[in-house]
Amino acid sequence: MTQPINGKFEMPSLPYAASDLAPVLSAETIEFHYGKHLQTYVNNLNAALLGSAFEGKSLEEIVKAADGGVFNNAGQILNHAMYFLQFTAPKEGNVPTGKIADAIARDFGSFEKFQEEFQAKGAGLFGSGWVWLSADVSGKLVITQEGNAQNPITKGLTPLLTFDVWEHAYYIDYRNRRPDYLKSLWNIVNWDVVNARLG
Ligand SMILES: [Fe+2]
Repeated sequence: MTQPINGKFEMPSLPYAASDLAPVLSAETIEFHYGKHLQTYVNNLNAALLGSAFEGKSLEEIVKAADGGVFNNAGQILNHAMYFLQFTAPKEGNVPTGKIADAIARDFGSFEKFQEEFQAKGAGLFGSGWVWLSADVSGKLVITQEGNAQNPITKGLTPLLTFDVWEHAYYIDYRNRRPDYLKSLWNIVNWDVVNARLG
């Protein structure tokens, strides 16, 4: 979905039903967050691209080069596609596997230390945005806070995992309790997807 089809971007297909992530994320949250918020970004970008210099470009190319409304909507489509496609049905005690497990232990000491730092950066981001795990050009893992529609690809990083901290991501299920939402998300991370992004 990162390439336009006949000049238009489409919604990413979810690999689960709206109710499959409950109780971590309710069907209502998926219906609003995916079904309404993401759909609006897709509609807005498709409308803004008509006749613009970015028509026919990939989502990544647009995010790296655009600004204003085109950047905001393209960034939010890329961010949400990565967010929604990295989840699977809840599993208690869900932990990283494979190469990403080794890299987290190498660069953060342990999965628990990584979780603490990731949650603290997510909880501490003022306003709307995203907390990301990415790899730098040397393969070292880094955690960054990105405001609004920002994505780590604009800093030359390879994005691997993200938790959305816009209020629309958690207010239905967690109200104002952003730290509880962040803590719960670990149970639905599909580490196979994160490993595939690590390459
Ligand atoms: Fe969102």
